[in-house]
Order: sequence, then structure tokens, then C-alpha cells
Amino acid sequence: MITLKSRFLRIDFLISNSLKTYKAIPFLYLCPMAQKEDNLKDIISHAKEYGFVFPSSEIYDGLSATYDYGQLGSELKNNIKSYWWKSMVQMHDNIVGIDSAIFMHPTTWKASGHVDAFNDPLIDNKDSKKRYRADVLLEDHIEKIRQKINKEVAKGLKRFGDNFNEEEFLKTNPNVLRNQTKIDDIENRMRETLGNNDLEGVYDLIVDLAIACPISGSKNWTEVRQFNLMFSTELGSVAGDAAKIYLRPETAQGIFVNYLNVQKTGRMKIPFGIAQIGKAFRNEIVARQFIFRMREFEQMEMQFFVRPGEEMKWYEYWKEQRINWHNKLGLGQENYRFHDHIKLAHYANAASDIEFNFPMGFKELEGIHSRTDFDLKQHEEHSGKKLQYFDPELNKNYVPFVVETSIGLDRMFLAVLSTSFKNEKLEDGSERSVLSLPPALAPYKVAVMPLTRKDGLPEKAKEVLDTLKFDHNCQYDEKDSPGKRYRRQDAIGTPYCVMIDHQTLEDNTVTIRDRDTMLQDRVAISDLEGIIRKKVSMTTLLK
Ligand code: GAP
Repeated sequence: MITLKSRFLRIDFLISNSLKTYKAIPFLYLCPMAQKEDNLKDIISHAKEYGFVFPSSEIYDGLSATYDYGQLGSELKNNIKSYWWKSMVQMHDNIVGIDSAIFMHPTTWKASGHVDAFNDPLIDNKDSKKRYRADVLLEDHIEKIRQKINKEVAKGLKRFGDNFNEEEFLKTNPNVLRNQTKIDDIENRMRETLGNNDLEGVYDLIVDLAIACPISGSKNWTEVRQFNLMFSTELGSVAGDAAKIYLRPETAQGIFVNYLNVQKTGRMKIPFGIAQIGKAFRNEIVARQFIFRMREFEQMEMQFFVRPGEEMKWYEYWKEQRINWHNKLGLGQENYRFHDHIKLAHYANAASDIEFNFPMGFKELEGIHSRTDFDLKQHEEHSGKKLQYFDPELNKNYVPFVVETSIGLDRMFLAVLSTSFKNEKLEDGSERSVLSLPPALAPYKVAVMPLTRKDGLPEKAKEVLDTLKFDHNCQYDEKDSPGKRYRRQDAIGTPYCVMIDHQTLEDNTVTIRDRDTMLQDRVAISDLEGIIRKKVSMTTLLK
């Protein structure tokens, strides 16, 4: 149960005992704001209980780091995809979408550098037998030092109140300066060692910083080794290296190899983008934290092709566009931050992550990368085909540069689910679990319910449902008491419940209950669709 800290005025409604009429009894109570505690376990069990996410092949005890999306999970996932696709493709007349194959010619991955360089530096702890990514151990260590700086800032704020000048404080406070120097030193050494594939240097850095295994506390480490993350399989019936193909580790290469097809057939002019949503596969060393790091996952990627030399302008542009896309969902601006990469991927000249405040802390949600002309040039070289663009304004041919935005759909799902999930204690002593999902993303937009299963109310409810189902995903629910049914809909994040009662039969009005305020209104059936649309429409997010 999440403890409740923040408080504000709220009005709730109680259902009268007779359950024939609904009496609004306003009262004050403590409102739970989502708290960033370690509530991942609660989220996982809620996701399973209500059909959002199941462990894959569970009847065989599951498969590590593989999950299946259930009946509600796939609806939520589709809505996230739709928000991304609409904002990328539909809202930009210079971006188009494709759907390329998961299997690609094996030379693709030689050209892209994935065969030789898509490695993670791994290190094992000899006592706990746990395996870690060496760069993640180092980044976690830096984060701990950063927390110390944050604590100093909090102390300063407490001490000086309104007179506190954070910028000045960060430049002058001796403790902050000492810790910042430590961070700078570590980052410099990381850049040097990781950037130059100096695995011994990475090992020395871990030892010098006295980094211990988070499980055993032991500092008894193996050497650092490289581990390729691609899954391979064999094409057809031929065995051996000749038939070896890979499951794509990113969707981006399907876009690069189709760059000229799309540019020519779509008569695209630079700058233009190609977007794609699809599965990607990585044999992650440490796959954990529910759907955060999986071996099979989905990406939503967009490659934006630009003139050489203009890539930094577009890199900044897409950083801003993407953070705006996130902010519009209303999950809280304070839950996002940018993190510039120290160790750049082999293809990038600039890269930044949008990190999200997941239940386990700030972690990467999306990457924005300036990929230069690396990929297209490599494919030119390996395929022997020209992948150039004739720029009529400049009157010359060139290989375009690329700025990429790449977001993990499953991580976005976790961001939405974890921020929306709350256990609330109401003033009357009862509790409710609620998913305050952004209404446009909710699996069901409205639940239609007859007050009782007699007197023609179910028939009337189905009539109402029939008028709504063309525009909205609706659920019909007649089992159990109205209170229980409301709780059930709260728990799956349905923004509205519509109750058909005896008055409906007389005057064609219904009550409509709001998930978040729990307020009920009596409205005409003819106004229902408009009221629901206003709240759940994706248009407001896209504008
Ligand atoms: N095409 C560039 C690319 O793939 P990336 O930073 O390796 O860049 C992009 O991946 C996004 O894909 C990440 O920000 C993350 O959201 C998601 N992602 C990467 N590995 C993942 C995994 N093992 N499980 C779930 N999502 C993952």
C-alpha cells in the first residue's frame, strides 16, 4: 500500500444503501499522490490480476525476462502505439511509416557494426556469481555521488529558504565541488576506457572506486569481457555459418535499407523521416525489472534524414519534440530528465536519453541519437549500391545524415502503468486501487452498467452501449453491486462508468461517474458520446 503524504481537498460520493438512487455525500479526505516507493511488486501483481501482463508460458513456470500482454495490456499498448504513430506520421507531412521484416540479410548487421561492436562489457562477481554490465555499475556509482550533491542542495534550501541561490551554491559549496570533481574524474576515465575498448582500464576503474557487488557486498570481480547481444538462428534447412541470420536488435536497420525505396516511391524531399514500430531482440546480460529490460521487446523508431552539417539543429529539435510528446500525457514533468551519453554507440556523434522516474528510479526510456551518415555509408559500401540523395537546392548529391528518435514501447507501457497505479484510502475507511491512466490511453473508455439485472434495465444498457461502441471501446458489466463494479473499473483505469437506472426508463437520462473525482452527474443519453469524446479523445494530446 502506498503511504499517503500529499493532501488536498476532494469530494467523493457514496452510494445510498438502497442502491436505487445515488446520494452524493461530499467529504474531505487525504488524496494519495503516486509515491515513488519501491512498488514494482504491487504493479506486477496488479498487471497480472487484471489481465495487463502475464509471465510468458507461465504454465511451464515462465521464461526469464519474457512477458505476454493480456487482454487489457494489448489495448493499452495499442493506444500508446497509436499516440506515437499519429504524432509522428499523421501530424508530420514529411514523415511516413513502414513495416519491415524482422529477418534481414546477414550482411546488414556486418555493415551496421552490430556483428563486431554490439557488445556490452560484462563483469561477474566471483562470490555472488551475479553478472553485471560494467558501465552500469559505474553509472550507478556516479548516481550515488550525485545523490550526495542533491542532499547538500536540499540542506541549503532548508537553511536559506527563499534566499537560496542554487546556481551560486553549486559553484561554491566545498562538498558539492568535491563530489562534482569525483564525478568528472570518473566520467573522464569512463570515456577514455569504454570509448577505446580498454577492458582492463574499465576493470581498474571498478577496483579503484571500490565498487562492491550490490547483492553480496563483495569486491571479488572477474576480468571485464565483451558479450555480443544479437540472437542468431539458421535460415531454412542449411546449417552452419553460411545460413546464419540474426533476429534484429533494432528496427532502425529496416529503415536504412529501405531509405532509397521510400525516398523515391514517396517522392520525399530532405529533411524527411521514416517511422516504424516493431519487435527487436537482444540477448541481454542482465534482463530484469519486469518489462523494463527484456530479451524480446518492441521499439518505436523514427529516422530523420537531413543535410550533412544540419544534424545538430535537428538533434536539438527532436529532443524538444519528444519531451513535449511525453509531457502532454500528464505523467508529471518532474518524472523526466535528459541524460547525455558518455559512451557513444559506434554510430553516433551525439546522443541523449530521456530518462523516466520508474519505480526503481530514473532510467532510460527513450534515446535521441545523431547517427551521422554512418549507417547509409556502411550499407553503400557493403551492398555496392548508391544510397545518395540529389538535393535540387544545392544541386549536388550526398549521403544524408540521420537523427533518430527511439523509444521502447514496453518501457513506455511501464512508465504509464507505474505512474498511474495508486492504492487509495478513502475517508470512509474503504480502499480502492485505481489506474489514473491518461484517458486517451485507457483500454476501455466507458463501462455501461444496468443498476439491476431486471425491469428491462439490461436491455436499455445494451441499447446505450450500442450507440457508444462505434466510437469507443466499451465494456458491459452487470455482475455484483454497483460499488464493486465501480472499483473493478477503477482498477483497470476506465475513465467513465455509465449507470442505467429506473429513471433512465422514464426520461432517457443516465448517471455518468468520473474515475478520478468519483463524481457522478445525471445527463441525457443523447449527450453521452460528446461528453466521453471530449475527455478520451487523442486529439487533445496531438494538438
Ligand atoms: N536504434 C537505436 C537503439 O536501438 P537503444 O538505446 O539501444 O537505441 C532504444 O534502444 C530504446 O529501446 C531504449 O531507449 C529502450 O526504451 C528500448 N530498449 C532497449 N533495450 C531494451 C530491452 N532489453 N528491453 C526493453 N526495452 C529496450
